Amino acid sequence: MVVVKNHEKFQGVYNVSMEDGSIELATKNLSKGIAVYDEKLVRYDNNEYRLWNPYRSKLAAAIKKGLQDLPISLGSKVLYLGSATGTTVSHVSDIIEEKGIVYSVEFSSRVMREFLERCAKHRNNVIPILADARKPEEYLNILETVDVIYLDIAQPEQAKVLIENANLYLKKGGKCLFFIKAMSIDATAKPEDIFKKEEALLIQEGFEIIEEIRLEPYDKDHEMILCRMG
Ligand SMILES: C[S@@+](CC[C@H](N)C(=O)[O-])C[C@H]1O[C@@H](n2cnc3c(N)ncnc32)[C@H](O)[C@@H]1O
Repeated sequence: MVVVKNHEKFQGVYNVSMEDGSIELATKNLSKGIAVYDEKLVRYDNNEYRLWNPYRSKLAAAIKKGLQDLPISLGSKVLYLGSATGTTVSHVSDIIEEKGIVYSVEFSSRVMREFLERCAKHRNNVIPILADARKPEEYLNILETVDVIYLDIAQPEQAKVLIENANLYLKKGGKCLFFIKAMSIDATAKPEDIFKKEEALLIQEGFEIIEEIRLEPYDKDHEMILCRMG
């Protein structure tokens, strides 16, 4: 029998013991009956949970790899840069519930169409924004100050994009979940050197590094940095 229990550290995250003995992460489905990326839906005690696949979502990978501090919880206001088709945004939306809000920025109109169809139209706490995260002033009239910035854009100059968005939208002491894909910055340099360089940029701008997690085996040559704006 499938059993669902609260995650040992994070409110809004669950551990599902599957019939084969494996333990999967999950969130409680805010949009009952609807899956976003063909994830399995599990019913338990009159609730419905969506399995959260660490091979599809880097935040789930970071949790599986031992993340200590998840700054996203019930009621959080999140600016999510690089929402793609909504795989991770949908789990963030589940965790923050209707009290929270996730401003979701994506610059590809084709991807945004899919995002609207799969994710945003079923969830009142998701605000889709078709814009380029490198030009954060473009969404000035839509956004408010947020508690957390999540950045996963797989582009060069990721730290610069994060800093510019944080300067405009992050509350003092707010935290950032920053996912770095080494290949997107420099395909020839060692991933470790790239991660150090991005980290140094953040420190230079007054950010405090809280945690760094390599995402192997879920994502090769990727790192997550959790940092706080000073
Ligand atoms: C690796 S995917 C994000 C996956 C997503 N975070 C998830 O876990 O479900 C990166 C996304 O960022 C988008 N992107 C890249 N550069 C961007 C930019 N400058 N502004 C907005 N979106 C961007 C891409 O179109 C792509 O959909």
